[in-house]
Amino acid sequence: MSVIVDGGLYREEDFMLKSLFPEALIADRNAFVLVVGGIMVFVACLSMVCGLLSARFAAIAGQGFAKNLRTNLLAKIQGFSFANTDRFSTPSLITRATTDVNAVRNSMHQLLRTLTRSPIMLIMATVMAFTISARLALIFLVAIPLLAAVLFILIKIGQPRFRKMLIRMDDMNRAVQENLVSSRVVKAFVRGKYESERFENTAEDLRQATLSSSRLFTMTGPIQMGIMWLCTVLLLLLGGREIIFKTTGLLTGELISMVSYATQAVNSLTMLSWLVMSMSRAQASLVRINEVFDEKEDIADGPSDAEVRDGSVDFEDVCFSYSGDAEKLALKNITLHIHSGETVGVIGGTGEGKSTLVNLIPRFYDTLSGTVKVGGLDVKEYSLKALRRGVSMVLQNGSLFSGTIADNLRWGKQDATEQEMKDACAVACADEFIDRFPDGYETVLEQDAANLSGGQKQRMRIARAVIKQPKILILDDSTSAVDMATDEHIRRALRTSLPGTTKIIIAQRIASIMTCDRIIVLDEGRLSDIGTHSDLMQRSSIYREVYDSQMRQEAKTNA
Ligand SMILES: Nc1ncnc2c1ncn2[C@@H]1O[C@H](COP(=O)(O)OP(=O)(O)O)[C@@H](O)[C@H]1O
Ligand SMILES: [Mg+2]
Repeated sequence: MSVIVDGGLYREEDFMLKSLFPEALIADRNAFVLVVGGIMVFVACLSMVCGLLSARFAAIAGQGFAKNLRTNLLAKIQGFSFANTDRFSTPSLITRATTDVNAVRNSMHQLLRTLTRSPIMLIMATVMAFTISARLALIFLVAIPLLAAVLFILIKIGQPRFRKMLIRMDDMNRAVQENLVSSRVVKAFVRGKYESERFENTAEDLRQATLSSSRLFTMTGPIQMGIMWLCTVLLLLLGGREIIFKTTGLLTGELISMVSYATQAVNSLTMLSWLVMSMSRAQASLVRINEVFDEKEDIADGPSDAEVRDGSVDFEDVCFSYSGDAEKLALKNITLHIHSGETVGVIGGTGEGKSTLVNLIPRFYDTLSGTVKVGGLDVKEYSLKALRRGVSMVLQNGSLFSGTIADNLRWGKQDATEQEMKDACAVACADEFIDRFPDGYETVLEQDAANLSGGQKQRMRIARAVIKQPKILILDDSTSAVDMATDEHIRRALRTSLPGTTKIIIAQRIASIMTCDRIIVLDEGRLSDIGTHSDLMQRSSIYREVYDSQMRQEAKTNA
């Protein structure tokens, strides 16, 4: 707004001046400048306060929104089955809960800040320009759609680039996770250099993808400036001619106002276009977040409220595939019956389907065809809580949590007494090392129990499973890192302290399962044979081969 009243810059009947100020004040120029100047300072301050408040409220709303979104996302992921998690992969779920939520929050923040202000400024500037000179204001009508079209094209190009960038971000998180979680393994195998190179490639891919998408952002600025200057030049050119040749009644002051309105309009449009760009980036993230919310949890509670009655397990012609593809079966037509209280060993080479077989018992996965029964009832009938109360599993690579040893044991039984903890640890042979810690059961474990040895971790996990007093106890290769004598000791303790519990023991060492009531031999997802040690030594060539090779090896190490 120009306040110069002299020299015919404004017509006397200029509506603002006339409506706002009395004639007498306009006549006294000094007073007029002071009054109008004062009003302008006041309005500027008011605008600044509003701007600050708007920024603050937008930040509060954005952060609250992000928190709610994350909480809900995590609650949803908690309900995921193993298969659900496999479909997304953990690193991708991490990116979605962090980077993607941040992108949406940013855009929401920007939306709150600009959505009311910019359109109002844009419309007001255009309307004001039209009241001064409808002919010159037509330039606005050309410039605005032109800008909009350019933006539309940029967004069209941008969307796939944003998606690609986010996928690279997944890769990056995967690389970071692998390197940090397995940093000890990386060191042990002296793979540091190789891993660094691999990491550098991932980082480079992310850099390129990010640059390629942000290049669009950086292009919007110059394009907008270009259009703004073009408008100004056109306005000055056309308006200037009108003034010089007096073809219309346009005044110099009015032309200056027109230019300032044009700047305002384009600025508002710039703000809006930043918003649209950020929304288009957030859109890519929103899609990824929604994929998580839309994912159907494929394992849900069954209708029955029964508890697991006994430890019998039945497989009736069970086929299973991780991909759901009947061509790629991980388990093929397994039929077997395990009595309650029986101790069953499972043996087979790596990748033959041992873990897969036992994963079906607590219903970590559902069968492709056939039925798995626990305690005589289809596992799909139980509520997951009841089923998993009855079935305790020591996962092949299960984790311990940061917290004390006692905290970790309470994962198995929330209200476990000190005696119960001691008993469970005695069965798992964990008491001997826990008693040696100065803080005993209150010893704090680091994340993933990094301050325990592999064998100690395994014994902790066994204790955590035993304290549940389950109907069925599954040990998936859970004593691979403990010495033979301790292994033997644990097995004997399990037999005496959990006599009624069905025990299913997967092991690589044949000595660990030799004494089981029966032994299952798996071969490429098929039940190759089942029987006692002496039965299998007679009948099963696979079993005999494993036995011979392990005995030979043992003889060699003893020699
Ligand atoms: N989460 C998974 N997703 C896809 N395939 C898997 C998954 N886990 C295991 N497999 C595949 O299923 C087969 C059996 O694996 P598993 O039961 O873990 O063998 P193991 O006998 O060593 O415990 C293997 O070929 C393995 O590659
Ligand atoms: Mg396994």
